[in-house]
Amino acid sequence: MKSLKSIFQIGVVFAAIVQVSVAGPVRKPSAPIARDANKIIKGKNFDRFVVIVLENTDYDDALKQPYLGSLGNRDNAVLLTEYSAVTHPSQPNYIAMIKGNTHGVFFDFDSTLSDRTIVDLLEDKHISWKSYAENYSGGCKLDSKQDHGLYARKHVPFVSFTTITSNPARCANIVPATQLDDDIANNAVPQFVFYTPNMKDDGHDTNTDTAAKWLESFLEPRLKQSAFYDNTLILITFDEQENYISLHNHVYAALIGGAVKRSVRTDSNPYSHYSILKTVEENWDLGSLGQNDVDATPFVTKDNGLGDRIKNIVMVMMENRSFDKMAGYFKYSPDINGLTGKEYNLVNTSDPNSAKIYATMDASYIDPDDPNHGIDAVVEQIGIHHPQITGYPGSAFGPFKQNQLTMSGFVQNMIKTHNISTSDLPRIKHVINSFNPADIPVTHALAQNFAIIDHWYASVPGSTQPNRLFAHAATSHGETTTTAGNYLAGYPQKTIFNSLDDAGITWKNYFQQLPSTIVFQQVRKLGFVDNLKSYDHFLADAKTGTLPQYSFVDPTYEKFPS
Ligand SMILES: *[C@@H]1O[C@H](CO)[C@@H](O)[C@H](O)[C@H]1NC(C)=O
Ligand SMILES: *[C@@H]1O[C@H](CO)[C@@H](O)[C@H](O)[C@H]1NC(C)=O
Ligand SMILES: *[C@@H]1O[C@H](CO)[C@@H](O)[C@H](O)[C@H]1NC(C)=O
Ligand SMILES: *[C@@H]1O[C@H](CO)[C@@H](O)[C@H](O)[C@H]1NC(C)=O
Repeated sequence: MKSLKSIFQIGVVFAAIVQVSVAGPVRKPSAPIARDANKIIKGKNFDRFVVIVLENTDYDDALKQPYLGSLGNRDNAVLLTEYSAVTHPSQPNYIAMIKGNTHGVFFDFDSTLSDRTIVDLLEDKHISWKSYAENYSGGCKLDSKQDHGLYARKHVPFVSFTTITSNPARCANIVPATQLDDDIANNAVPQFVFYTPNMKDDGHDTNTDTAAKWLESFLEPRLKQSAFYDNTLILITFDEQENYISLHNHVYAALIGGAVKRSVRTDSNPYSHYSILKTVEENWDLGSLGQNDVDATPFVTKDNGLGDRIKNIVMVMMENRSFDKMAGYFKYSPDINGLTGKEYNLVNTSDPNSAKIYATMDASYIDPDDPNHGIDAVVEQIGIHHPQITGYPGSAFGPFKQNQLTMSGFVQNMIKTHNISTSDLPRIKHVINSFNPADIPVTHALAQNFAIIDHWYASVPGSTQPNRLFAHAATSHGETTTTAGNYLAGYPQKTIFNSLDDAGITWKNYFQQLPSTIVFQQVRKLGFVDNLKSYDHFLADAKTGTLPQYSFVDPTYEKFPS
């Protein structure tokens, strides 16, 4: 017998996202990298990471500079609006970028450190790396200044680690910046690149405007070189804020390169210099240095669905109708996991010869009998004939395997619940009828024109309240029934609305009769006036384009599907 796959006659099962607004065009992915596959270790999100560090500028000042201010607006780029440097002055920030902490370095004096760095992690996985430094003379030369002070050792963290300088092969990877163009020409740019401009180019001895102009002249021609650009993630940032007083140490940062596939212009995740390590570690499964890299936020390189592309989410939650009840006979696509007309329930599940009641396409808006919504009843409806369930109600049940869910007990439970005579088949069969799509034109049109989800399950095989608690809070706090007596005191669990509020994301619960979120103590704390609004506000806000980022709509509980 083909079972009724998903008739859950329980609290809340039919949900539709009716409006999503797309924030920007999806950009074309760049062509796959064309290199000797033996030489590169494919990463999850990129095949090369390049960091270019400029000097001593506050976020707002960097943004005012036209080139820096416009970088995030380009294809394959994104501006990071909440990127923090680690400390002051310069040197410990650079140390932090490759070491995961400042290693007790407080000043810009020459430091000699012996510890593991990102170099160890990279080499463990055979990932090539180089530190390119402008006006550096090579050979692990340790002078604090070289080339008339254009080169400053404090900005090239690799030379301060004996774990690197005592190893000739590693020393050979710290090179004068002029080598970059040779490496590009030879299609031999390493997979991890740390680029240190000189004291004028990075703005240290000049100003942000000079640094930005240098960056433009440096970057633009090289972005056109596939050996540098393709599937590369380039981070442009500043070592620290100019202003020492700010605790935030907020600096400009932007990602650009062939590996950046974001449709948004800005990203407000809380990044820091430690994100460099975390990003690289995750990309190639390098493990970690066990320092501040562990908990850092890795850079997002690709759109990750909802957060990026969607401006508004509107959730409308209806009552008491299963997927198959509503959409079992939506036949415009063969992909929909609906009904075939061959699905039936036996009047008595223990008697294979008892009458078969077929799921037909003639559901009505108001059925003569409400199916039982209690958990014990639902367990019987969805086909759990557990030895312990000798009758309804009150038996023990669960957990069950997926293939035990035969959807075979709706008819039997309906007969039991309402003491219907088995000879009254027309009355019994309402419980498994499905709608004729012509009778629910709105739902049908939404599904046809947008998307329909045919494996969406309610959280609790039970009634309205525990399911609505789950929808807003991911837990019913143990509630398994609809218990009006608990509404006044309210439920204590944290809700999605509190998380949204914490993240500065706007939300409203629009309602026709009652806002379902009012049963949460923590929603009450967030305030009724601004967040719980009658349905006419929803219509007005939708019309004027002022909907919050997340809207939850509670229609009147007496509305029937259409
Ligand atoms: C310093 O480095 C830059 C960039 O690598 C190079 O163009 C320049 O010739 C070097 N020397 C001086 C004295 O500027
Ligand atoms: C269902 O069928 C079983 C097995 O034939 C029988 O023992 C039982 O009495 C029937 N139940 C009802 C309610 O008719
Ligand atoms: C169920 O219906 C039958 C027949 O109509 C009736 O005799 C019986 O009393 C009813 N049982 C209950 C529990 O209402
Ligand atoms: C949903 O089910 C509950 C519980 O049986 C019932 O009280 C309510 O009237 C039903 N709501 C609708 C809209 O069918």
